[in-house]
This record gives sequence, C-alpha cells and structure tokens, in this order.
Amino acid sequence: MKISKRLKAISNFIEDNSNVIDVGCDHALLDIYLFNNKKNIKLIASDIKEGPLEQAQKNIKKYGCNIKVKLGYGISTIEEDIDTIVIAGMGGDTIVDILDEDKDKLNNVKTIVISPQSEWKKTRKFINDLGFYISSEQIIEDNNKFYLIIKFVKGNKKYSNKELEYGPILLQQKSKEFIKYYNIVLEEKINILKKIPILKIKKRIDNKNQIKSIRKTLKSE
Ligand SMILES: C[S@@+](CC[C@H](N)C(=O)[O-])C[C@H]1O[C@@H](n2cnc3c(N)ncnc32)[C@H](O)[C@@H]1O
Repeated sequence: MKISKRLKAISNFIEDNSNVIDVGCDHALLDIYLFNNKKNIKLIASDIKEGPLEQAQKNIKKYGCNIKVKLGYGISTIEEDIDTIVIAGMGGDTIVDILDEDKDKLNNVKTIVISPQSEWKKTRKFINDLGFYISSEQIIEDNNKFYLIIKFVKGNKKYSNKELEYGPILLQQKSKEFIKYYNIVLEEKINILKKIPILKIKKRIDNKNQIKSIRKTLKSE
C-alpha cells in the first residue's frame, strides 16, 4: 500500500512493540501502514465521525489487518494498555482540547505523537505542562506543504519561550525544511506588515516583533 510522505514520516515516530491509539484516524491508512511495517504492534483506530470510521473499516478489511475500530470523542476511546497516542491532521487547539478533556486517561501513556496544523507553540507548551518532553521533532515538506511532527515522551524538561516557539530540537538541527519553512513565513509576515494600516499600532508592533524573531532565529547558528 502506498501512503503519503507525511503519513510515512509520522510512522517513523512510532516504535515497534507499542500499543497505539490513532485519534482522528479518518481512512486509517496510517494504522494499516503501521500494522504492516512495525513489529508486535497493537492498534486502535478511532474517530469522532461515523463516515470516516466506515471508510477506515473498509480499508482495514481490504488490507486484512487486525486493527480495532472505535467511535468517540478524542481519547475517551482509549484502553488501559495503550501506551502511545497519535493525533495528526488537526489544529493545535483541537489537539489541546482532546488531551485536556480526558487528562485522567493519560496515566499509562508513555508517548504522544502529534502533527498539529496550527498553534505549534501552544500545543508544545500544553503537552510539556502535562509532564511530557520532546524527544524528537521534524518539519517535512510534502506536496508543497509543510508539516510538523513531534514526539513527546513521559518526563519533565523545562523549555524557554524560544524553544516552545520554534521547537528545541528543530532549533538545534536547523534542517533545510526548517530554514525553507521559516523563510516562507518571514516573507508572508513582511507582506502582511505592508497591508496593516499605520494606525493599527499594536498589530504592527506584534508583526514586527515576529519578523525580528524569525530573522534572528534564521541567522543564529
Ligand atoms: C483531517 S483528518 C486527519 C486524518 C489523519 N489523522 C491524517 O493525519 O491523515 C481529521 C480527522 O479527525 C477527526 N476528528 C476531528 N475531531 C476529532 C475528535 N475530537 N475526536 C476524534 N476524531 C476527531 C475527523 O473526523 C477526521 O476524520
């Protein structure tokens, strides 16, 4: 089965021998790929909507995988022995809400892999405050779009504002995707600044500070 570069990249963050719940599985293509490519993996594919879950079930049957399917909100569908949560392809706010609503379900969870479409800083901070630290992260480019993938593992580590904003590991590695992505964001912010009316002082200052911060980050070693 062929899957996107994005889903394949997410699969690289999941370990053999793990018990995984994929929250918002949609088509369950990630889960099918994991079933076929990881050793000794147990999977729950979960979604809030019946339509996607029916499609997931069809795909799971088609590829003959042993994957449990569960309908429900966020991680309310988690089971006792699940040690790894994957939440991909949703806004950072939704990911935060999902984890916040059922914090009590995280007791046995050792790993959280997320790929938030927005609110990267807020999502990093929220999961870090839950008692998880960032063990790996990556920005990938797939079909001219950029995606962030972060793996959190249980444990405490304090991060600076800058690390929460740009990612502690991404900052160390400064990959070519990171540089390309933030050059594009910088360009966008410069264009936006030209359109903000002179009297919108706070907006202009915020925008200028963001531009300054990105420039500094791109320049620093
Ligand atoms: C854009 S798809 C992403 C699918 C897949 N995770 C991926 O990355 O390709 C988002 C999926 O999340 C589901 N979803 C949205 N909010 C959810 C929630 N609170 N709990 C469970 N699933 C949710 C949607 O029904 C949809 O199938």
